[in-house]
Amino acid sequence: MLKILDLMRARYSVRSFADRAVSRDTLLAVLEAARLAPTACNNQPWRMLVVQEPATRAALATCYPQAWLATAPVILVCCTEPAKAWCRRDGKNHAEIDVTIAVDHLTLAATEAGLGSCWICAFDAAKARQVLQIPAELEPVALIPLGYPAAEAAPNSRHSQRKPMDELVQWERF
Ligand SMILES: Cc1cc2nc3c(=O)[nH]c(=O)nc-3n(C[C@H](O)[C@H](O)[C@H](O)COP(=O)(O)O)c2cc1C
Repeated sequence: MLKILDLMRARYSVRSFADRAVSRDTLLAVLEAARLAPTACNNQPWRMLVVQEPATRAALATCYPQAWLATAPVILVCCTEPAKAWCRRDGKNHAEIDVTIAVDHLTLAATEAGLGSCWICAFDAAKARQVLQIPAELEPVALIPLGYPAAEAAPNSRHSQRKPMDELVQWERF
């Protein structure tokens, strides 16, 4: 089993998937990692739709301009439920923070299971709402394709372009 930092280093955005099914047990294990994520005030204001049927995946792929999305055997539609989220006194709604933590847990668990994943936020949310009949109280914020990486899958150049620590972290004061 990989240690957590090794797991984080091993994860990269996979945009090419093998023609290999993901078992229900593996999917459930990965979804469990999301379920265990912390949320503000423990409100858990998110929902995930698991899309596996080929026709639905194809319809969903029309909401994103890159054809590779349809090659993933599973696409998770990650939604917030803003009305159930904790709000700070100044009104800031924390639903997106909460679902982001859940998705991050999930992508790391997916990596451990040998699955590739990729965040997709540049999709047509209104069209996805229509295609999947997403209820009004939910807001689709990310698509996460999941599947075993294709043999040719590899990290792109952005993966190794992280800012140096001293550009990201200040000690004691700005
Ligand atoms: C919030 C968010 C939105 C993203 N949206 C997209 C997207 O719409 N399409 C895409 O191909 N990659 C998307 N990505 C993936 C990033 O481009 C990728 O994580 C980044 O370039 C670093 O590469 P790595 O994930 O391989 O380390 C997104 C990532 C995040 C965190």
